[in-house]
Amino acid sequence: MATEKPKKAAVVGSGAMGHSIAELLAMNGHEVTMIDINDELLQKAKEKIKWSLDKFVEKKRIRKEDADAAMARIHTTTSYQEAAKDIDLAIEAVPENMDLKRKVFSALDAAAPLQAILASNTSTLSITEMGKATKRPNKVAGMHFFNPPLMMQLVEVIKGENTNQETINTLFELSKKLGKTPIIVRKDVRGFIVNRILGIVFNEAFWAFQRGEAAKEGIDSSVKYTGGFPMGWFELADFVGLDIAYEVGRILYEAYGERFKPCEEIIGPLIKEHKFGQKTGVGFYDWTKGRPRIPFNMLDEYDVERSWAVAANEAAWLIHDDAANPEDIDAGMKLGTFWPSGPCEYADRMGLDVVVNKLKELYTKYSMEMYKPCPLLEEYVSKGFTGKKVGKGLYK
Ligand SMILES: NC(=O)c1ccc[n+]([C@@H]2O[C@H](COP(=O)([O-])OP(=O)(O)OC[C@H]3O[C@@H](n4cnc5c(N)ncnc54)[C@H](O)[C@@H]3O)[C@@H](O)[C@H]2O)c1
Repeated sequence: MATEKPKKAAVVGSGAMGHSIAELLAMNGHEVTMIDINDELLQKAKEKIKWSLDKFVEKKRIRKEDADAAMARIHTTTSYQEAAKDIDLAIEAVPENMDLKRKVFSALDAAAPLQAILASNTSTLSITEMGKATKRPNKVAGMHFFNPPLMMQLVEVIKGENTNQETINTLFELSKKLGKTPIIVRKDVRGFIVNRILGIVFNEAFWAFQRGEAAKEGIDSSVKYTGGFPMGWFELADFVGLDIAYEVGRILYEAYGERFKPCEEIIGPLIKEHKFGQKTGVGFYDWTKGRPRIPFNMLDEYDVERSWAVAANEAAWLIHDDAANPEDIDAGMKLGTFWPSGPCEYADRMGLDVVVNKLKELYTKYSMEMYKPCPLLEEYVSKGFTGKKVGKGLYK
């Protein structure tokens, strides 16, 4: 469906994500006003954008005059009224806290024209709740960029309970015009697609470590060198930030119950000691001397099929709940986390019967909900839709 391209935008919060989203919009011809709580933060954000644009010029990725024009399209203010009075779109990127986000949405709603779309870059929180803080819940949606937004290809476009299709179409088209690959999350489910699948894979690895089945270096070695993933799960958790991984894990547990039972014993003590991974210098690994070295000689310590099995199972739950389709799930994992394959295509290639058997074997051994096959997988297998070998599995 053809949709009007939003021209004037406000970006709320000029931190790690906000300043980069503002830069992306300005580079693509949008007038952008960044809002933050004081001028000093806004000034710092502008300096970061200037530095980044200069780098693009230096590397001959863009022309100097285009960089100057993009910079000239970026404005700053601490006033919602001033920033939002004539916008078509606002993208909120303030810290991950529902009370704060609701306040921001209410302020944007009061200041922005009625037809403007209000989007949130939240990683996990409810879009529906944010919409309820406004008088236009049909125009409130998720627009979840990955870090850094300028570089990462993926955007999750999320439909809240009250979001209308036109809003989703506009954000979908806008993402494409910004050079991104948007995927649609049709329901306001916690963790959306990428963080939800990553969450279950982390948990499987943490529990395997907790049970003493493999060392964390062994798990990461197997995941990287046997599985072909860009990072091991412990390395990646450290990279993302254990405080963030912990909080996302808590939200997933609250939303989905025992299937996402967190491995408190493994991650809890690190959180208490403020060992959050790369950003604090220590987490599962020591990062003080750079990226941890994952040993080559432990690549058989952990069965990577276990990661794939729980990932495919969670993907099946997303399909079962009509929250996403296999194409978007696979694109999400490949573009958002650089997986060598999507979990749905992997499951179809391996055979859904093989995946279900693996899950059942693990369920029998550990009696954990995480391994209980999703009813959709069981149904497909019982109907003979076992994947590529028969021409129908998660993909048709
Ligand atoms: N950092 C990531 O890797 C990442 C990735 C995807 C999504 N997200 C999500 O993006 C959002 C922002 O994350 P971040 O890492 O950029 O946070 P950040 O802490 O770097 O930046 C947040 C900014 O919001 C500002 N702010 C706070 N209250 C405000 C208010 N009332 N009005 C205007 N500005 C206000 C802060 O001063 C700060 O500059 C969060 O919802 C987070 O979950 C983060």
